[in-house]
Amino acid sequence: MLQEIRDFDTILVDPSDEKTFSDAARALQEGEVVGMPTETVYGLGADARNPEAVKKIYEAKGRPSDNPLIVHVASKEMIKNLVSEINPIAHVLIDAFMPGPITIVMKKSPIVPDCVSAGLDTVGIRFPIHPIAQKLIKESGVPVAAPSANLSGSPSPTKAEHVMKDMKGRIPYIIDGGECQVGLESTVVDATGNWPQVLRPGAITIEDMEEALKAAGIEKPLELKLHKATPEEAPRAPGMKYRHYAPTCPVKIIGNGTLDDFSNYLVYYKQEVQNAFMEGKTKVGLFLGEEIAEQLKVLFEDKKERIVYYIYGATGDIDAASHHLFDGLRTLDEDRAQLIVAPAFPEEGLGIAYMNRLFKAASENENSIDPQKNERNILFICSGNTCRSPLAEAIFRSIFKATGPHNMKANPEVPAIVTASSAGTFAENGAEYTRDSVQLANFEYEEDISQGRSRIVTEEMITKQDLVLCMTADLSRYLRFKYPDMGDKVYSFQELIDDLSIPNVDGEVTDPYGYEYLVYMETAKQLDNIIRELMPEILDKWGMV
Ligand code: TXA
Ligand code: MG
Repeated sequence: MLQEIRDFDTILVDPSDEKTFSDAARALQEGEVVGMPTETVYGLGADARNPEAVKKIYEAKGRPSDNPLIVHVASKEMIKNLVSEINPIAHVLIDAFMPGPITIVMKKSPIVPDCVSAGLDTVGIRFPIHPIAQKLIKESGVPVAAPSANLSGSPSPTKAEHVMKDMKGRIPYIIDGGECQVGLESTVVDATGNWPQVLRPGAITIEDMEEALKAAGIEKPLELKLHKATPEEAPRAPGMKYRHYAPTCPVKIIGNGTLDDFSNYLVYYKQEVQNAFMEGKTKVGLFLGEEIAEQLKVLFEDKKERIVYYIYGATGDIDAASHHLFDGLRTLDEDRAQLIVAPAFPEEGLGIAYMNRLFKAASENENSIDPQKNERNILFICSGNTCRSPLAEAIFRSIFKATGPHNMKANPEVPAIVTASSAGTFAENGAEYTRDSVQLANFEYEEDISQGRSRIVTEEMITKQDLVLCMTADLSRYLRFKYPDMGDKVYSFQELIDDLSIPNVDGEVTDPYGYEYLVYMETAKQLDNIIRELMPEILDKWGMV
């Protein structure tokens, strides 16, 4: 077993336990990060006025972010300090929808640091209606900056156990507020102009807002009446390359979402299941309504081991489907489904937000790696290919053997085969590996690399790889520059560590060449640590265990 690195013994707080709850509130006050429930999804909260505290959110999430954070308050009074202006539009929206599942973007005040607004002159304000969120914010007395409490790449958490799964060891407290009622993130609306603009659809729709504004005597500007307001995607955080390897399996959306089409859904599910089995998939996950599930269970009685059912509620119930969507995706993925089938809903009301999240889930995994392929190649890169990368290759092989036997997640009878090799960006073809590296590999890892010879990395070599791992970010940048088409699979250790949100691992491996044996030993230790941390994650992405 690999030892988990853990900063915190994360405490799951029962909110009725006043003492522990106060501890969590105090931690928040003192600049710590706390997992908190809201009616939409769980958030990862920290004092919005304290840049050091906000930095810890990014550390817990595992990556620096240039996406702005929203700030949570527990009263309308608290909003005043955070914004420089509340225009008439914002006024109406605040009065009509707060507290509730909406985030209103307004001009920020100087209190909001740049790390929260990501350098914008605006800030998103959210006043959750969840009583426990309100209590936490009130008791700590701080405005709380909070993104959703998931690791990048996984769906937003809607249960405390989801947060625990993603954040265990990374933060001191998670407050258990049960299941989030809405289940999809808040509507984000830009209220800085003369008409609200939806940046992210949610439970509060543009029609709801139009109605409230109309009731307050504010009419839609004439020029906008000509265009139908369509929901748009909020700006996405860059630097998510590794999302191609997203852990969730492919998601297939069935139906066209019209109410007429709903009567055909049983047939669609049946077809998808049959197709998946024909394609050799061993397990299919279905996100579906009760009535359809009952009929499918009868139809596929003889295949019940290969179908996982996640029933969200009554078939046409969009509230239930939205409420359960993220939990459904997580659950079916954890059950090792190789395909998740989920229904389209009419794109109106909450259906707009539901479809927005479902499309995202479906498109994020389009490029996902074939989970059936049981042979993979990994290439380690340093500059000369005489010290670091041959050692990395040997250490990888040794750890792979020691932690094995490895096999395919989907089919434990199929062995997982990973071939490790090494090369250098400026290597001299045919040069011998340094004696120290050969000795270390031999004595510490029982790997004989004495016959290995240096190779300069070539395009052909990279083409054959599933993953190319460089000792330093300089090297990975160089390779991506030289071979831009293949940049997707080139990482430095540190970049991959950041992308996978692994805390507390120093991934920059400097060159021991020319130094004494002791320095080589340090290098080996560092490589050992890095590879032990990365290996299970890499295997997981490849559908291996
Ligand atoms: O329901 C929610 O909103 C949850 C709970 C925890 O409150 N929070 C949440 O936060 O989903 P996050 O960081 O995962 O998503 C916030 C979204 C991002 O897409 C961000 O780009 C957008 O809101 N956003 C935040 N501030 C903004 C601003 N000033 N201008 C434009 N977009 C903004
Ligand atoms: Mg999020």
